[in-house]
Amino acid sequence: MVNVAILGFGTVGSGVAEVLTTNGGLIDQRVADLVRLKYILDVRDFPDSPYKDCFVKDFSIIENDPQVDIVVETIGGATVALDFTTRALKAGKSVVSSNKELVATHGYDLLQLARANGVNYLFEASVGGGIPILRPLISCLAANELSQVTGILNGTTNYILTRMIKAGLTFDQALKEAQANGYAERDPSADVDGHDACRKICILAALSFGQHVYPDQVPTQGIRDITLADVAYADSCGYKIKLLGRCLRQPEGKVCAFVAPHLVPGDNPLSDVEDVFNAIAVTGNAIGDVMFYGRGAGKLPTASAVVADIIDIAKDLKKDRRNQWGPGSPDLVVSSDILSSRWYVRVNASLADARALFSDLQPLARGGAPAGEIAFLTREMHEPEVRQRLAGLDVQSLLRVL
Ligand code: NDP
Ligand code: HSE
Repeated sequence: MVNVAILGFGTVGSGVAEVLTTNGGLIDQRVADLVRLKYILDVRDFPDSPYKDCFVKDFSIIENDPQVDIVVETIGGATVALDFTTRALKAGKSVVSSNKELVATHGYDLLQLARANGVNYLFEASVGGGIPILRPLISCLAANELSQVTGILNGTTNYILTRMIKAGLTFDQALKEAQANGYAERDPSADVDGHDACRKICILAALSFGQHVYPDQVPTQGIRDITLADVAYADSCGYKIKLLGRCLRQPEGKVCAFVAPHLVPGDNPLSDVEDVFNAIAVTGNAIGDVMFYGRGAGKLPTASAVVADIIDIAKDLKKDRRNQWGPGSPDLVVSSDILSSRWYVRVNASLADARALFSDLQPLARGGAPAGEIAFLTREMHEPEVRQRLAGLDVQSLLRVL
């Protein structure tokens, strides 16, 4: 018998209990053992839950029960979750997590701790919700030197952008829907301001390039300033606006990583990724380009990834999954200023003034634009150059083109 304890019975934790129950028969078959939910820890009471006999309030009951093999951490954050994860690993229990904040902040130390205690720390659900991405990176793409990863990594913001464009909802209305669907973080500014995508690109960069990348090393811009005017200008030239997390291998082991809204051309498959869906494009020197797509958030899709990790561990409790990476370093991440691209500019100026600065610009048009507002695409250039040319102008929006 393999005993499981869930910490945090919210959107994801309750989904894990549901999948373990609904698919219990086939899970037992696949593991060739009985996988049982023994405890659920939550600060709230759930008197009507079908799992009401599993609930405990004191983590030490789980920590000190030698029958508990796998602890599922779905509380979130990097305080209590760090304490419980550390204690569970030290107590010789493998930990499965959906908590990208914890992995991005303390992943290196927790992986070391897991190894030192002969157990595993797996977190497939921490990136891309239900999309299988971390295990494929480690296993299926192991033959490759990976050069870059580009992804729509946050379901909430992609949902908001889609609902604003397709249903004409305001930003606040679309965010409320995302929250009601269980997609958003406890503090949704983590989604809107790009921090959630930042944590995910840190994890992807660490697994792809072998060193821990910390969130505070990664320049991050969210979607708060994107307006329907920008969406309309982008649409006029066949582009969609998407929040992308990107990491690129650089010479001498450096990494360029950043999060920012981009204009994505209509012929790039990322432009068609809508609603809560995420997609992650990976480039390797043997496979070329490969893309992973699916639901990036939500109760059951995320639980699907968590339970897959439970099954993997339960099949062989002692096996080392070797999802390690090396320590980070302060000078690991280089600025995205080194990346040349086209740029989208919306500015209050005359087209003649803009042409004086960008002789080869491509003007854009939208219905209902106020007098004095123009928008255009530049040729390929580096960000410092485009900013220098725009200095002194009333710039409303400046976005990179993928
Ligand atoms: P929820 O807020 O829905 O669930 C967290 C649960 O943990 C709540 O029931 C909360 O209770 C409880 N909790 C808080 N503090 C404690 C504590 N000290 N001891 C025990 N229980 C506690 O979050 P989600 O399920 O949405 O997310 C969980 C994690 O999974 C986060 O790291 C999130 O980023 C990640 N994730 C979420 C996805 C999603 O679609 N929602 C997808 C992928 C990852 P209370 O509400 O009373 O505080
Ligand atoms: N808030 C996150 C998102 C949950 O919207 O993508 C999944 O990690």
